[in-house]
Amino acid sequence: MSSVVKPLLQAFDIHKSFGGLKALGGVSLSLEQASITGLIGPNGAGKTTFFNVLTGIYKPDAGHTEFRGQTLPAGLPHLVAARGIARTFQNIRLFANMTVLENVMVGRHVRTSAGVLGAIFKTAATRREEMAIRARAHELLKYVGIDARSHHVAGTLSYGDQRRLEIARALATDPFLLALDEPAAGMNASERAQLGELILRIREDGRAILLIEHDVKWIMRLCDFVTVLDYGLCIAEGSPLEVQNDPRVIEAYLGVGAA
Ligand SMILES: Nc1ncnc2c1ncn2[C@@H]1O[C@H](COP(=O)(O)OP(=O)(O)O)[C@@H](O)[C@H]1O
Ligand SMILES: [Mg+2]
Repeated sequence: MSSVVKPLLQAFDIHKSFGGLKALGGVSLSLEQASITGLIGPNGAGKTTFFNVLTGIYKPDAGHTEFRGQTLPAGLPHLVAARGIARTFQNIRLFANMTVLENVMVGRHVRTSAGVLGAIFKTAATRREEMAIRARAHELLKYVGIDARSHHVAGTLSYGDQRRLEIARALATDPFLLALDEPAAGMNASERAQLGELILRIREDGRAILLIEHDVKWIMRLCDFVTVLDYGLCIAEGSPLEVQNDPRVIEAYLGVGAA
């Protein structure tokens, strides 16, 4: 008998409207453990809205999500993060005036136990914890390839390095799932290739990745699975090859009538 591995995440029939605008009209999505899934679709298709629902920034009007066998709390970003989903943002959100290292350390604090009193009185345990956080932050900066910039102010980094820093900060929470909203935006071809390598390494380390991106060629090369949204609906899903040849996808992207 073959044992069936349950998906890491299953979203069921997610609806989300803004006033009269239906941004998500019933999206279901399943993510496998340690896989890379691309979420693509034209501008305004609902990709970022889906991320915002998934990560608890928005509460869906209907639908729910199962993650690691449990229903994910809706509309509660801190609880979602604690369950093991981390993300980056389409518009980079860093603490621009803090150093690169500090930005990653902030991410790590989500995972630590030292309470407010510990932080104020700097107990031995708090100091040990702080040192561990610092060491882990350095490790993550090395992992994403910007350790040499640890003490630079985050806002002075190049666009590509800021995106890497956001990934390091997200990884600092030790997520099972990393959701990246257009991480390659504004990158040149060689930066894109390097980012692709990094994403593959993250998968090899056993994490799942959900990836929004416009560069279809890049995404098709990188992903194990692809889901296509159009006007808030999932119009295709499958392997890159299956999706690429789907007439509805060709129509959504090229605006031509499907055969
Ligand atoms: N906070 C919001 N308030 C009102 N409309 C929104 C909001 N967020 C997204 N939308 C609208 O929902 C639709 C989907 O947007 P979005 O999820 O950002 O698309 P994508 O990321 O695929 O480009 C768009 O029409 C957008 O204008
Ligand atoms: Mg978007």
